[in-house]
Amino acid sequence: MLRIKIQHKYHLTCTQCRHVTPNFWTWFEQEQQCPECGSKHSEVWYNRRYQRLPRLINRSPTSFWHYFPFLPLLRRRHIISKGEGAVPVERWPFLEEFAKKKYGLDIHVHVYRNDLNGGTGTFKDTAASLAASLFNEIGIDQYCIASTGNSATAYAKYLSLAKVNCSVFMPEDAIKTSEATISSYGQQVFRVMGDYAKAKEIAAGYARLHNIPMSTGNIDPIRIEAKKTMVFEWLRQMDKFPDVYIQAVSGGTGPIAIDKGIREIKQVYPKLKNPRFLLVQSDGCDPMVQAWENAEAEGFPEGFEKKYPTIDNPKTEVPTLATGNPATYPIVAKLVKASGGSFLRAHEKKLVPVGKLAAYEQKVIPGPASAVSIAGFFVALRKNLIKNEETVLLNIGEGPNRAPYFLEQMIYTSHNVHNVDECAPHSIGDYRMQLWNEVMRD
Ligand SMILES: Cc1ncc(COP(=O)(O)O)c(C=O)c1O
Ligand SMILES: [Zn+2]
Repeated sequence: MLRIKIQHKYHLTCTQCRHVTPNFWTWFEQEQQCPECGSKHSEVWYNRRYQRLPRLINRSPTSFWHYFPFLPLLRRRHIISKGEGAVPVERWPFLEEFAKKKYGLDIHVHVYRNDLNGGTGTFKDTAASLAASLFNEIGIDQYCIASTGNSATAYAKYLSLAKVNCSVFMPEDAIKTSEATISSYGQQVFRVMGDYAKAKEIAAGYARLHNIPMSTGNIDPIRIEAKKTMVFEWLRQMDKFPDVYIQAVSGGTGPIAIDKGIREIKQVYPKLKNPRFLLVQSDGCDPMVQAWENAEAEGFPEGFEKKYPTIDNPKTEVPTLATGNPATYPIVAKLVKASGGSFLRAHEKKLVPVGKLAAYEQKVIPGPASAVSIAGFFVALRKNLIKNEETVLLNIGEGPNRAPYFLEQMIYTSHNVHNVDECAPHSIGDYRMQLWNEVMRD
């Protein structure tokens, strides 16, 4: 723990009234909100020379801590890392060939492999690593979080490493394997009888009652700062910055962080702009898509972003994405609109077929939320949202480890046998047509 609180590396600025909070000690003292206007949305800015960033980007990182000068931690010795955030961007030729064959498009399709993160193999590891390191530095030893699974698992692991107690509030339908993982680290789980909104409500009550800081969700400056390093990584790994970005969306930390990262480095990368955000939800929980479709039908009237439905107790096979009350829609929808992007709906019945196809063609088994993102690529093509010669980036955020029920549905080559006469060699190529048909069929 560091006791000197006067520092000149960074400060937080309120996005609503520009009030400046000098450091994270003060930010937590004022209950993670602006003391002037009450907004929870402050952004971190650095008193740094960005001229050194391109040089930094040219070296090979082992984690997102490579970008330490542009992260809100003062001492490297406080870092808690498991090698997260330096994951590869891959080319997926089978998706490029499909776009060429079926739509005549010459496009580059890249996939950002967040499932290969060192901590828990999800999208959420960088934020949890930054949170744990920061709590280590400023001396926080109790924390709580409401989560549908991946955030909670990542925070549970990293906070354990930092010896921070973390209470996790999970909705009733959260995946059992996530609960088991959190519990096995010794962190406390409260399974809330109700949906994610209910879990958040109880967590907030607990935080107030015991005066314990709680994760503020998608606009949490800790999460945004960690995730903005995606932009640095794409600059490092890709010949061309993506024109189109596809992600399964729940609350939208991804696009909010990309936008922040790009604004932050404007000075050294003046031509960089947000990719067109194509954000995908499954039809089991798609309040943002519904809101967007209504706004589109009305011609995007002034203030369209403030109108969105809430879905109580969403019934979905992808509990990871089950944000029925999308409180961040006003922020995310404005970003999507300004980028020329859209919200897309993927059908849940397509997720297993899409998962099987990716596993067969690319030997990458996606988790359910990742399958939503890949399914979104097919929807985007069908809706003509990708143009010739564009570079597309799909962000996949989890493997199948914590969704065994999803993985089990991918069995399709097994035979139950009683004797050797029933067993014959196979030819792997024979499955291709069947797998593509399952994805394409209406
Ligand atoms: C694997 C995966 N994909 C996508 C998301 C959605 O992330 P967000 O909407 O916060 O950008 C999450 C988390 O909720 C996730 O765990
Ligand atoms: Zn303010």
